[in-house]
Amino acid sequence: MAPLYLIQITTSIMNMTAKNAQNRVVGFDLGIASPIGWVDAVMQDFDGFLQDHASCEKKASGMALSMLAHYPDKPDIVAAMGDLAVEELSHFREVLHLLGARNISPAADVKDPYINALNQQVRRAPEFFLLDRLLVAAIVEKRGHERFNILMHTLPEGPDKHFYEAIVASEERHYQLFLHLANTYFDSETLNSRLSELLVLEAEIIRALPIRAALH
Ligand SMILES: [Fe+2]
Ligand SMILES: [Fe+2]
Repeated sequence: MAPLYLIQITTSIMNMTAKNAQNRVVGFDLGIASPIGWVDAVMQDFDGFLQDHASCEKKASGMALSMLAHYPDKPDIVAAMGDLAVEELSHFREVLHLLGARNISPAADVKDPYINALNQQVRRAPEFFLLDRLLVAAIVEKRGHERFNILMHTLPEGPDKHFYEAIVASEERHYQLFLHLANTYFDSETLNSRLSELLVLEAEIIRALPIRAALH
């Protein structure tokens, strides 16, 4: 039998996915909030956090290009991922500017344990692969939105805070974009069922990961 907290998360997630009149899944909540100590760790090593954030934006741009390359026959995906790759790369450039203003070099890319763990949940069979990739991407953007929002409210008034206000708005759009694409290619029952499973798994991953001065 699943642990009680997972049953609670599953039940609440099933209540949290929202559908509109066309029976499209138009929103969802994460299974658990980020741990309280996360933003404290970030504020204690904000320079290190910025280095990690730069890497995340670069990888997000690469992920969008990889989706585009994998589905050249799907015009919605090609158009959306082309735009997204450019936007994520512009975020990367903006974080580079924040680093440059501090005289800090970008760090070498390292494996992201959160992304790796989520990607392991992507089923490779052709009938599942696109659905899982879109939903994992939506969840990653949603978690990014949650964390950047916490950070934005914690930072003192100034350019860093203003930058993160813009990032929060972007991540909201990105999460909606991946959800929109999932609705384009899959019916709401299929989508909702897999989304609920992935949200439970994501909550487990968040619980298991150490807190550090990084986006994940
Ligand atoms: Fe971004
Ligand atoms: Fe994003």
